[in-house]
Amino acid sequence: MTTHTIGIIMNGVTGRMGTHQHLMRSLVAIRNEGGLRLNDREAILPEPVLVGRNADKLAALAAQAGGVRWTTDLDSALADAANTVYFDAQLTRLRVPAVEKAIAAGKHVYCEKPTATNTEDALNLYRRAVAAGVKHGVVQDKLWLPGLRKLKQLIDSGFFGEILSVRGEFGYWVFTGGDPSEGGDGMPPQRPSWNYRQEEGGGIIVDMLCHWRYVLDNLFGNVQAVSCLGATHVKRRWDEGGKPYESTADDAAYATFQLESGIIAQFNSSWCVRVRRDDLLTLQVDGTKGSAVAGLRDCVIQPAVLTPRPVWNPDIPSPIRYTDGWTTVPPNIAFDNAFKAQWELFLRHVAADAPFPWDLHEAAKGVQLAECGLRSWRERAWVAVPELPR
Ligand SMILES: NC(=O)c1ccc[n+]([C@@H]2O[C@H](COP(=O)([O-])OP(=O)(O)OC[C@H]3O[C@@H](n4cnc5c(N)ncnc54)[C@H](O)[C@@H]3O)[C@@H](O)[C@H]2O)c1
Repeated sequence: MTTHTIGIIMNGVTGRMGTHQHLMRSLVAIRNEGGLRLNDREAILPEPVLVGRNADKLAALAAQAGGVRWTTDLDSALADAANTVYFDAQLTRLRVPAVEKAIAAGKHVYCEKPTATNTEDALNLYRRAVAAGVKHGVVQDKLWLPGLRKLKQLIDSGFFGEILSVRGEFGYWVFTGGDPSEGGDGMPPQRPSWNYRQEEGGGIIVDMLCHWRYVLDNLFGNVQAVSCLGATHVKRRWDEGGKPYESTADDAAYATFQLESGIIAQFNSSWCVRVRRDDLLTLQVDGTKGSAVAGLRDCVIQPAVLTPRPVWNPDIPSPIRYTDGWTTVPPNIAFDNAFKAQWELFLRHVAADAPFPWDLHEAAKGVQLAECGLRSWRERAWVAVPELPR
C-alpha cells in the first residue's frame, strides 16, 4: 500500500467548528482509521498542522489529536512545501485575507462558510483560486447529514409526486449569559459573542442563508428570489469574559424563497426560540403524493394514502394524534459524520482529481443569498437572486 501524506494547515482550529468537527471528528478520525483508501494500492494520510494565536491551547489540542504538529507562525506553515492544503475555520471576517494569502502561496484551499461577508469578496476569492490553478472548496456539511441524505433519496425515488413547498425550522435558545440581577439569564452562552456583533462578521442571516442556499439549490431547485425579515430580538448579551454588550447583529431571520422549480420554501432561523420539534433543524417537504419531515439524523414520511382527514372542530379534543401518522425511514445505510464525509471527498479531489463541485463559486452563491436577504430586509422588498458570473 502506497500512502500519500497531505500536509494540511488548519487555521482557526481551536474554535467550536475547527476543534470538534474538522479536527477531531474528521481528520483525526481518518488518521485513526489508518488513512483514506483511494483504491487497492493507495491511501491518503492527512498530516495536520494546527495554527493559531495561543501556543498553550494549540499544544493541548495537538496532544489531544494524537501528537500532531502545531505552530503560531502561519507564514512558516505556508512556506513548508509539504503542506499542500490550507483550511480556514477562523472568524468569518478573517477569512478573505487569510485564504488570499494561502492561494498566493500556491496552496489548495478548503474553508468554512461563509467565505466572505459580501458577494464581491467571495467571488474574488473564487477568481483568485482559479487564476492560481489551485483546488478549492467550501464546507456545505448539511448535504451530508443523514436526515437530508434520506430526504434526497425520497426525492430521487419520486416519493413526493410534485413537490409544492418546503418549510425549514432552524434554531434554539442561545443563553445570554450574565447575572439575573443584571438582567442576564445566568446560563453560559453556547455560541461565541462575535455572532451577535455585526462589526465582527456576526448575524444569523450571513450565517444561515448560505446554508439554505446550497440545501435548496441541491435538493429542490435554484433559488430565484428572496424575501427576508431580520430581527435583533435579544438586545443585550454577555461575552466570554462576562462583560455585557449590545447586540448589533440580527439573531432571527424569517425568509421566503422562490425556486426555479416553482417550489416555495420558507425558513425560520432563530437563536431566540425554544425547541418543540424533533430536532434543531427540521425540514418539512409537502408533495402531491406524500410528505416528509427530516431532522439532522432521522426522516419521517406520510404517503398520500395514509394521510388523515382532519375536520376543524375546536369544541372537542382532536380525534387524530397527528404525530402518530408518520413512519420513520429505516436506517438502511450507515452515514458517517457529515463534515468527515465532505473532507474525504475534498482529499480525493486533491490527491486523485475526483470531482468536487462544492467550490468557491458555490460558496459565493451562499454569500450572495445572504446579501440579497439583508437587502430585502433593509428595503422591505422581494429581491431577485441573479446568476453569478463564473
Ligand atoms: N458549517 C457549519 O455548520 C458552521 C457552524 C458554525 C460556524 N461555522 C463557521 O465557522 C467559522 C468559525 O466559527 P466558530 O463558531 O467555530 O467560531 P469560534 O469563535 O468558536 O472560533 C473562531 C476561531 O478563530 C480564531 N481566531 C483567530 N483570530 C481571532 C480573533 N482576532 N478573534 C477571535 N478569534 C480568532 C479563534 O482562536 C478560533 O480558533 C465561522 O466562519 C462560522 O461562520 C460553520
